[in-house]
Amino acid sequence: MNRSTTGTTDPALIPAPVRSAAVPGDGCTLDADTALAAGPGTADTERWLRATLGEALGLPLPPGTPGAPGTITLAVDPELPAEHYRLDTTEGSVRITGGDPAGVFWGAQTLRQLLGADAFRRAPIRPEGARSLPALRIEDGPRFGWRGLMLDVARHFLPKDDVLRYLDLLAAHKLNVFHFHLTDDQGWRIEIKRYPRLTEVGSWRARTKWGHRASELWDETPHGGYYTQDDIREIVAYAAARHIRVVPEIEVPGHSQAAIAAYPELGNTDVIDTSALEVWDTWGVNPNVLAPTDATLRFYEGVLEEVLDLFPVEVSPFVHLGGDECPKDQWRRSPAAQARIAELGLADEDELQSWFIRHFDDWLTARGRRLIGWDEILEGGLPGGAAVSSWRGYAGGIAAAEAGHDVVMCPEQQVYLNFREHGGPDEPMPIAYVRTLEDVYRFDPLPPGLSPEAAAHVLGTQANAWSEVMQNRARVDYQVFPRLAALAEVAWSPLPAPAERDFAAFEARMSGHYARLEALGVDYRPPGGPLPRQRRPGVLGRPLDGPPPQK
Ligand code: ACM
Repeated sequence: MNRSTTGTTDPALIPAPVRSAAVPGDGCTLDADTALAAGPGTADTERWLRATLGEALGLPLPPGTPGAPGTITLAVDPELPAEHYRLDTTEGSVRITGGDPAGVFWGAQTLRQLLGADAFRRAPIRPEGARSLPALRIEDGPRFGWRGLMLDVARHFLPKDDVLRYLDLLAAHKLNVFHFHLTDDQGWRIEIKRYPRLTEVGSWRARTKWGHRASELWDETPHGGYYTQDDIREIVAYAAARHIRVVPEIEVPGHSQAAIAAYPELGNTDVIDTSALEVWDTWGVNPNVLAPTDATLRFYEGVLEEVLDLFPVEVSPFVHLGGDECPKDQWRRSPAAQARIAELGLADEDELQSWFIRHFDDWLTARGRRLIGWDEILEGGLPGGAAVSSWRGYAGGIAAAEAGHDVVMCPEQQVYLNFREHGGPDEPMPIAYVRTLEDVYRFDPLPPGLSPEAAAHVLGTQANAWSEVMQNRARVDYQVFPRLAALAEVAWSPLPAPAERDFAAFEARMSGHYARLEALGVDYRPPGGPLPRQRRPGVLGRPLDGPPPQK
């Protein structure tokens, strides 16, 4: 080779590894002669490395012999815990040893970060360059087994390619859960063969509120789209190859107007004329909820049969059924709903919702899956095996964990990335409270005072990105990054208590990480504020002052 480009001696790894140390002796250089030797169970990482480093750095990585000089060796060693890995860059070779195939994959993500920001491009910009790495040993593994991002593709549709790209972005941050919010009042995004109107009717709306719901502006461009069943299969396979679990979310019994617009019999027909409903074109909590009838239960069993077929248990052990923000007014006024309450001997409408959720918990459990829902599913009683996404604060999560339910901590006060990142006037369509990069960095998924038994039920954490004012991929990027990088470190790295976290050191590493995000083409919010094209002057948001009220 003609030239050697140092990867870096200050690798600015994000998320920070558990241990990283320089070791005596020579490091290694990756160049056109570097081989790749993949042991049993590492074929997906082998393919990923060859595709990624081949594309970015022009390294062909021909097959090699494990442990030979000038070789990247991938191996599984079950002595290491799941998802853990060891990475050695010594004596002219690289060795990645994982506790399981996922651990090997996370080690490969670290190797890519060590190779410099150019390793995140789609074509070599220094075709002749070799990459030198110092002699290092990294020993690493995650704090939590659930490290995720929820993307709302219902309020604004994200085309399939954008979803695949987000899976790559999750993988680059060692995040392993993609929560796929597929249905809501404003759109139904997954093809269900036996109910074609869900997408024929339910995936389109004629116009869309532009900004917060109090805004006077409308975007009159029809909006919509959906994933075909083959698109879903591709997304699931792409996630699986990256050791990412997918949690499909089908909302019941609230947030269902798109489904009711497609099949009016799903709504409370004895209260309103559901045949007049259209896919909702504005935002908020919608009164039009599912009718608690046997026909509705059968309909959603039919939906879920196809969902389970598309999302196999290995990738999707959990199925999310929503359960949040279901106003009970129509049920109070509906003779049919009241008759159902009487027939079942229930106390009130909360118990009716609980009955609805329990039905699907039993149904999913019988099929080897686990139900997860937003913390409202605790109201009226929650069945044993169900898990909770704690969004309204820590309180629901604490109550659920103390009662022995598994919990994913995602309180809106901390990790809702649709909330504005800065208090300045240039923030596009600013929503709710200011949640800075530092706020997210100081989030702890384990609230103080949780008993050890309850803490063991906290599976981990995820950030949520609701898309009412995120109209496209650039808007999603702006809200999600850089804060997702902080969430990734919170979920993966063994950080001290929030007040003791060294945010300055994280910020210093972020300066290296911004270069990676740029190489990846992520339209993140720059530390200095939005670029002119990222602003949305004159489009109303709904900023709220002060710190978010904690619950
Ligand atoms: C939610 O934010 N309604 C879960």
